[in-house]
Amino acid sequence: MLTMALAKGRLAEKTFDLLEGMGIDCTLPRNPGRQLVLDVPESGLRFILVKPSDVPTYVEHGVADLGVVGADTLLEAGRALYEVLDLGFGACRLCIAGFAEKKKTTVSHATFRVATKYPNIARNYYGRQGKTIEIIELHGSVELGPVIGLSDVILDIVESGSTLRANGLEVLEEVCPVTARLVCNRVSLKTRRGEMLKIIEGMKAQLTEESV
Ligand code: PRP
Repeated sequence: MLTMALAKGRLAEKTFDLLEGMGIDCTLPRNPGRQLVLDVPESGLRFILVKPSDVPTYVEHGVADLGVVGADTLLEAGRALYEVLDLGFGACRLCIAGFAEKKKTTVSHATFRVATKYPNIARNYYGRQGKTIEIIELHGSVELGPVIGLSDVILDIVESGSTLRANGLEVLEEVCPVTARLVCNRVSLKTRRGEMLKIIEGMKAQLTEESV
């Protein structure tokens, strides 16, 4: 049986849509209750539903052969695994956001402060520009940073933009676009190639079918 680690929530639901298109019954993993390991023996798949930021960890360590996770999480984690498919869904953008210059409040720190859930991405992004910054790591509601004067800007994902608008912030720079990716363990792709390719190619075919 192959194990697939899925980021709980919308990405998992969209993945089940794709798998159901391939004839895989996802009734159990769609309704897991408190169960964390969901076996669908007739399709040769076992699902584990985990926090998005943990997906790369499970896949790198080989306890999951496959995983579905956002490109933002992958970039931040920097794990040694193969990214095999851009699934297209879960689209958003990684952006630097803050108050527009004209609306800038009194917030101004000796060092430029960036509040973010993505410290590695922030470090690399500003590092490439040769800019010295202080990273303030948060785990949610990052938009609060500039609003209450904790940081000058945030680096975060923007989907509809409604959280930024509701807090008087706007996109200042775009870092990169984000979509969900299918990733796989490097060893599994060699040792269980047949089973892995069946899933990878099946998902690819579903995406092609959806786009026509
Ligand atoms: C994410 C992200 C933004 C928001 C962007 O937060 O960190 O806050 O969604 O979406 P929008 O552009 O459609 O408003 P999430 O909802 O995951 O909650 P969190 O702040 O607790 O991380």
